[in-house]
Amino acid sequence: MPASNHAVPLAASRLDPTAAEPLYRQLYEALRKDILAGHLPPGQRLAPSRVMADELGVSRNTVLVAFDLLLAEGYLESRVGAGTYVSEDLPEHLLHAEPPDVTTAPSEPDLSLTRRATQFLTLPTRLRPEAPRPFRTGQPALDLFPFDVWARLTQQQIRQLSAAAYTYGDPAGYLPLREAIAAYLHTSRGIRCTAQQVIVVSGAQQGLNLTAQVLADEGDAAWLEDPAYLGTRAALLTAGLRPVPVPVDAEGIRVDAGKDKAPDARLVCVTPSYQYPLGMTMSLARRLRLLAWAGEVGAWILEDDYDNEYRYAGRPLAALKALDTDGRVLYLGTFSKALFPALRLGYLVVPPPLVEAFARARYHADRQSPVLEQAVTAQFLAEGHFARHVRRMRVVYAARQKALVEAVSRELRGKLEVHAADGGMHLIGWLPDGVDDAAVVAEAEKAGVQLGALSLYYLGPPECPGVLMGYAAYAEEEIERAVGGLGEVLEAFLR
Ligand SMILES: Cc1ncc(COP(=O)(O)O)c(C=O)c1O
Repeated sequence: MPASNHAVPLAASRLDPTAAEPLYRQLYEALRKDILAGHLPPGQRLAPSRVMADELGVSRNTVLVAFDLLLAEGYLESRVGAGTYVSEDLPEHLLHAEPPDVTTAPSEPDLSLTRRATQFLTLPTRLRPEAPRPFRTGQPALDLFPFDVWARLTQQQIRQLSAAAYTYGDPAGYLPLREAIAAYLHTSRGIRCTAQQVIVVSGAQQGLNLTAQVLADEGDAAWLEDPAYLGTRAALLTAGLRPVPVPVDAEGIRVDAGKDKAPDARLVCVTPSYQYPLGMTMSLARRLRLLAWAGEVGAWILEDDYDNEYRYAGRPLAALKALDTDGRVLYLGTFSKALFPALRLGYLVVPPPLVEAFARARYHADRQSPVLEQAVTAQFLAEGHFARHVRRMRVVYAARQKALVEAVSRELRGKLEVHAADGGMHLIGWLPDGVDDAAVVAEAEKAGVQLGALSLYYLGPPECPGVLMGYAAYAEEEIERAVGGLGEVLEAFLR
């Protein structure tokens, strides 16, 4: 289709440079509406960004940012060397979708920002360092961490490490830590791997970033659970991959739906132990189906086992990696939850043929993790402090989860529903149908309660409104007080 049919005249009439809303956002909305209304039909080629920018009288960056958002959400597709088109197969749900939440979108992007950096601006991010309050997620109970032991081991390691240890080390990690991680994964997760297969990373986030960079090329499809952890979406987007949202059900990711949507995906990112954020465990049947499919088509599976340490009931299921006979699974873990997030240490277990590529990618990313922290963590594991701390926290977190479930069912009947879970560090609070979860989060914040809006974690349409409620870091009284504070907030939404 010729570019002369493009959307410029329609969109132009709706851009208002004096409006508070940034121009890229206005253009994004205008193009999106034209696509949904059928003014821009599937397969329509859009004018090149430079031409569109000239005709609209806006900067090219404004057009590129609007295109990027539409590409990331599946409204547009780019064909190498041939330009940008309206997607041929617009998912049905997009035709009914409301505009995504924009409260977290920043002002007009700085002209010096790259398209990649601009994608960060579209993801909700909590940048202000502030003490976590109930029910902020991802927080362990730091007041119960044995910092006295940590301090003693740190002193010991400072004395013991040779001067040579302080120069550039192995980018794949400090060997005693890799050995301790391999031993831990064998006993606790049923994973048989050598220390050489363990790549120490700077938190699970770097593991996600490196995986996206090393295992797929720009434009490649990657299945992403829908809903999913925002850090995983960020890693895929910034590596230039195409996140394909795949729905989850009670058994985890729907492999059948993934095969329909992107049979050629290079990478699949999953959270089998405790789906993030919904919390279901992937069934054995689903695990086997996913592995079989990945083996058939040669796709990689990234198993993000971010809070595997915390299971309170039921038989612990071995990791997906433990079932992987074809070497298609990369296993990702972190010390952020069992130890503390500021440590910035995590680990990837990669199939032997990938070890060198990952070590090199780590080298070129940032050389290595700090040796002292790696050495202290290794000793913390080897001397049993890690296992002891996790055992203690399991009891504490289980009691806190129980306090949350009981307080909600006692105080918020008809307003919020939570269900006990066998694992994890947060629960979903389900809101009555039709309630805007992002608005609830904003009102709760004013009342001093921190929640996460479930709808933000979806790329497709959210099934039900809900809020994420972390409980691990908060004492039972704090949990009860915060639940009390939510009563009035929720009341206003139900009138
Ligand atoms: C699902 C999931 N993956 C990965 C991470 C990354 O943690 P970190 O980068 O702190 O290791 C988190 C942290 O909350 C998470 O919830």
